[in-house]
Formats: sequence, structure tokens, C-alpha cells
Amino acid sequence: MAVDLNTLPSSPVDGKNNGNKDQENYVRPRSPLPGALAKLRFPVIASPLFIISNPELVIAQCISGVVGSMPALNARPSSQLSDWLAQITETLEAYNTANPLRPAAPFAVNQIVHKSNDRLESDMQECVRYKVPIIITSLGARAEINQAAHSYGAVVMHDVINTKFAQKAIEKGADGLIAVAAGAGGHAGVKSPFAFVQELREWFNGPIALSGAIAHGGAVLAAQAMGADFAYIGSAFIATHEARASQAYKDCIVNSNSDDIVYTNAFTGVNGNYLAPSIISAGLDPEHLPQKDPSDMNFSSTSTKVWKDIWGAGQGIGAVHSVVSARELVQRLKQEYVQARARLL
Ligand SMILES: Cc1cc2nc3c(=O)[nH]c(=O)nc-3n(C[C@H](O)[C@H](O)[C@H](O)COP(=O)(O)O)c2cc1C
Repeated sequence: MAVDLNTLPSSPVDGKNNGNKDQENYVRPRSPLPGALAKLRFPVIASPLFIISNPELVIAQCISGVVGSMPALNARPSSQLSDWLAQITETLEAYNTANPLRPAAPFAVNQIVHKSNDRLESDMQECVRYKVPIIITSLGARAEINQAAHSYGAVVMHDVINTKFAQKAIEKGADGLIAVAAGAGGHAGVKSPFAFVQELREWFNGPIALSGAIAHGGAVLAAQAMGADFAYIGSAFIATHEARASQAYKDCIVNSNSDDIVYTNAFTGVNGNYLAPSIISAGLDPEHLPQKDPSDMNFSSTSTKVWKDIWGAGQGIGAVHSVVSARELVQRLKQEYVQARARLL
């Protein structure tokens, strides 16, 4: 029997939150989206991908209408970051001048806020110099990084795998949260996205991006329905022409599905999701991987080997059927999003 949405009881929208878990606060009004996030026409942030994201991919993502992003550490040596930021900024400015009615989405730079990242301070100075509109912080929250971003009006989104880290990040001045749920590519959490977003929304009404296995427009709509503002998508962008990944890696994403994803801390000391075929090619048995210590994690200027040989990917890759341009991927997501919404209405 069809459900008439008009006959469902309405929920309180009074904006009060007395901290009582039983209160129906899931429709609590949100704060308006801050800064560059308010301008997005399609609620997708393309996530930063270690080694893989480069200016070409970021520019294509932004021009297609989603936030494009890259880790600062991808620019090597560190002096290259300035050239990359100049390239992205100038190209997007020129695009926006030529297309004032349909400007590009803003871009983001990811800072790995981990003690082994010996470039953090100088990379952040470059972001301030180029006024990067969105800063994504991961693997640690630091108040001074947030202050540096806020000094010129940037928005800081912090990547978390649990509520404790989320609360710490907001205390230290992050503006928004990236909820990294189970099944995400690269370093990932273990929480169900349903549990995680609902729990964050109990106390946080700022921007939330949901990360983990989102590779279909229907899932973007689902993320919004759950209470997130944005879907955060990584692995699907690996299989694009612009991505700086080998053809074998891109083909492996196309030919694999969630059965091929292995969750392990064996490679960096932090649990993450990887493609089993790449583990086998490296001469290892995905079923019998060693445990590693979190203290082994190292983001110093030289540590790229693991990510080149062992390919990170999330469980959503079953939705990726061919290697396409970033623009074609975003078009597919938009089409699926519209179709999913029409189906529900
Ligand atoms: C190959 C790969 C590299 C990644 N590198 C980074 C990174 O450098 N910084 C970061 O914050 N997240 C990184 N991530 C995690 C993504 O930001 C994001 O959480 C994840 O891709 C979302 O899940 P999905 O891949 O299933 O879409 C990486 C993910 C992958 C697959």
C-alpha cells in the first residue's frame, strides 16, 4: 500500500535540544552552511586521495560542480604546492569569469595533521597565501591549523571515525565533520553510517559530510536523508582519466566489488580498506596479513611506497563500471540522484 506522506505526523522543529536522547530532534534546524560550502549546487565533496589527486583532477571536479580536493602532501617536493595552488586558483578564476552564471565549485586542500608530517606548517602557510576556501584535516586536530584557516575565512572540515574524535575536533575549532563510516577507501572506520550520522546529529548542527562506499547518486540522496549535508566520495574518482593512478589500478576498481575489499592495519598501522588483487600481486595473502602497530604510521616526505603498491579502495566500487572523465562521473551521479529523488516522490 502506498504511503501518503501528507498523513504522516509532523515532527517538532522547535530547534531546542535538551540533550535528551529520546527527543525527536532529528529535524532540528541546521546552522546555515558556512563560507564556501554554502555555494554548492550538488551536495558532493570529492575526497582527497593520497598520491592520486592532482590539479588536473581537482579542476575537473570543481568545474563539474563538486568540491575538488587534494592532499597538500601530493605536491612533491613541497615547493611544488605553490605552483599547484596557483594553477588551480587561476584556472578556476578564469572559468568563473567566463561562466558567471554557473561558476565552478570551490576546492579544498587536505592537511594530514599527524606528528610525522614534517611539512604541515609550511604547507598551511601556502594555503593561507592562496586563500584555499576549504581545508580538510585528518589524523589529528590542531587549534592553530583551524585558526590559520579562519584568519582568511576558510571553512575547516575534520575527518573522524568516532564521536569522541568528533567532539574533540569541534572543541578545537573545526567548522564541520567528515564522518568516515565503514567501507570507506583508505583509512576507514567501522561504524554503520546510520548509527554515526544520527549520533553526530544529536549534538552537532553544523556541516557534516558522510564518507564511506558512496559511489552512486542514490547514495548521495540517502546521505542527505540520514542527516548529512554532503556525500564525500573518493574511490569512484580513482577510475577517472584525470586521476594520477596506473591503468592497472583503475581497471582493478572497475573489475572489483565489495567482496574484493580487505580491511587491515597491516600496511600503515591504521585500519583501512584495500583491493585484494593488489595485496596478492605484492606476494601477500589477504587472509593472513600481519598486524601492525599504529606507531608505525609515517607521513614524512618520503613515505609513498605502500600506497603505490597496495591500492586503497572502498566497498562502493561495485557502482563503477568503466573508466570515465571526472565530468562524466559527476554527470552520472547527478542523473542517479535526480532519478532516486523522483522514485521516492
Ligand atoms: C587511495 C586512497 C587514498 C586516500 N588518501 C587520503 C588522504 O590522503 N587524506 C585523507 O584525508 N583521506 C584519504 N582517503 C580517504 C578519503 O578521503 C575518503 O574518506 C574515502 O575515499 C571515502 O570512501 P570511498 O573511497 O568509499 O568513497 C583516501 C582514500 C583512498 C581510497
